[in-house]
Amino acid sequence: MALLDIKNLTIYYETEDGVVKAVNGIDLQLEKGESLGLVGETGAGKTTTALGILGLIPNPPGKVKGGEIWFDGQDLLKTPEKEMRAIRGGKISMVFQDPMTALNPVHKVVDQIAEMVLLHNEGISKADAQVRALQMLEMVGIPADRANEYPHQFSGGMKQRVIIAIALACNPEMIIADEPTTALDVTIQAQVLDMIRGLRERLGTSLLMITHDLGVVAEICDKVAVIYGGEIMEYGTLEHIYNETAHPYTKGLFGSLPRLDLDVDRLTPIQGLTPDPTNLPAGCPFGPRCPQHTEACDVKPPYNEISPGHFVRCMLFNDQAINTAGKESEE
Ligand SMILES: Nc1ncnc2c1ncn2[C@@H]1O[C@H](COP(=O)(O)OP(=O)(O)OP(=O)(O)O)[C@@H](O)[C@H]1O
Ligand SMILES: [Mg+2]
Repeated sequence: MALLDIKNLTIYYETEDGVVKAVNGIDLQLEKGESLGLVGETGAGKTTTALGILGLIPNPPGKVKGGEIWFDGQDLLKTPEKEMRAIRGGKISMVFQDPMTALNPVHKVVDQIAEMVLLHNEGISKADAQVRALQMLEMVGIPADRANEYPHQFSGGMKQRVIIAIALACNPEMIIADEPTTALDVTIQAQVLDMIRGLRERLGTSLLMITHDLGVVAEICDKVAVIYGGEIMEYGTLEHIYNETAHPYTKGLFGSLPRLDLDVDRLTPIQGLTPDPTNLPAGCPFGPRCPQHTEACDVKPPYNEISPGHFVRCMLFNDQAINTAGKESEE
């Protein structure tokens, strides 16, 4: 059984301007010890999915309309808030995009980590929590002699390391990292990604990495889910997504990926605008922008497994499902 198993998750924001259909029937699995990249353009529903897992959708205007989120054998959508509070930061930690707002400016960095350790380890002494906090700092590459400094004395990259130390402080089973490096400059970004990869290998923590950057995914992830208009368009291993790219949207994402080995003007960004989530097309959400769009795309494409472990939601692959019988009998 997967550590995280999301089934048909649907989340809307009911606003004055209409119903924002942010997440529309997502299925996702994350195995223990694995890292999964959730990739897509702005507004695709990535953060909403993450907040949904953690039970943090702001309500109103947000509402989980349906689905199941199984984590460690428990449906998080049916878990009482009190228990969710223990799960957040205990079994599941979250690293957000902006390191500037996630740290408390008036507390020493070591104390902020120790506080997290105390919160999630009943009976641990303050002294032991401090020791553990120092170990965590060292693990993320911050020397002990800087432990008693305040966040404003740290660079952006170092702050993000502290946040990762806080996220790891209670030995979570899973970390959700939402664009953890986008606020950092490119060199620092590479260092932090390197560190995340090293820590994961050492600790075996499962990772859900949210990003719009396929380069980041290639660095750290085992599996990739491509999300568009709140639906998973393509899912598979790195090999599937990078070498056997199937969905026109995934191809488009690669076309718009800046590559150092290519001339800049050979970049071909995806034409058109991201869909209006209050007014999504009836069929494929990518249809209006898709270079291979046909009339067939005006109905919802099925989510087909086209080779073992490689799933695609696209009419071009409508007849290529290898596993429909098996899938139906499972359900
Ligand atoms: N609190 C909210 N109220 C209303 N609409 C919201 C709210 N939060 C998000 N949305 C809308 O839901 C959709 C999905 O947003 P979400 O933040 O999940 O996207 P994302 O993939 O994380 O994008 P980004 O890459 O910009 O972070 C967007 O259309 C967004 O405007
Ligand atoms: Mg987001």
